[in-house]
Amino acid sequence: MVPILSPNIEQYLNQLNNQQASNDALGQVMEERAARDDFPIIGPVVGSLLELLARTARASRVLELGSGFGYSALFFGRGVGQRGTVTLTDTDSALLDEARQFLTQEPNGCVFEYLQGDALELAASLEGPFDIIFNDIDKEFYPEVPERALSLLRPGGLLITDNALWNGDVLDPQDAAARGVADYNRMMYSHSSFQTSIIPLRDGLSISLRVQ
Ligand SMILES: C[S@@+](CC[C@H](N)C(=O)[O-])C[C@H]1O[C@@H](n2cnc3c(N)ncnc32)[C@H](O)[C@@H]1O
Repeated sequence: MVPILSPNIEQYLNQLNNQQASNDALGQVMEERAARDDFPIIGPVVGSLLELLARTARASRVLELGSGFGYSALFFGRGVGQRGTVTLTDTDSALLDEARQFLTQEPNGCVFEYLQGDALELAASLEGPFDIIFNDIDKEFYPEVPERALSLLRPGGLLITDNALWNGDVLDPQDAAARGVADYNRMMYSHSSFQTSIIPLRDGLSISLRVQ
């Protein structure tokens, strides 16, 4: 396990982010929920970045693969606002129920949709185009995401993937999860339909623009 950012820099970024998100009551309740059960969420710094990307792309349709209890969707919803829809997916219906309870408290005008099941199977039954697809499913399945996303993403749309550095385990992958993430990164950096960059924030955020 390799620290992606030095703890001091991480703390500095969190403090700065708090200045613009200090009154985010719902976000804080959801962060406390995650901390209680050690549930992995993107956290507020990456959340702000997702909101910013959705605003920049003027996104009206966002699809999440692996939504948990809706924390990342909260930020996409803020970025999309009244323009449209965020579709959440998760295999765990109890998590989606929780997400529904949290996100009904968010008065930003965005519509949230909840689909229970395997995200890649659900995606196969959905109609595009989406402006943004956010990938946060089990890591060993990451290599299946690019082709599925390509069929649903508009040209100029973004495929965003969390945990792209996977605690540094991508440097010397020793298990299926680390191999899945490392393979995904290689695929995306050599994919002719995408331009990709990994931002070493938190656990690494991969951002891929569909260029053709
Ligand atoms: C890291 S958590 C998601 C956290 C969420 N994106 C956030 O930051 O708030 C990953 C979630 O993906 C779900 N998941 C994993 N593999 C999946 C799959 N193949 N299809 C649907 N959901 C999946 C898990 O049940 C879990 O809730």
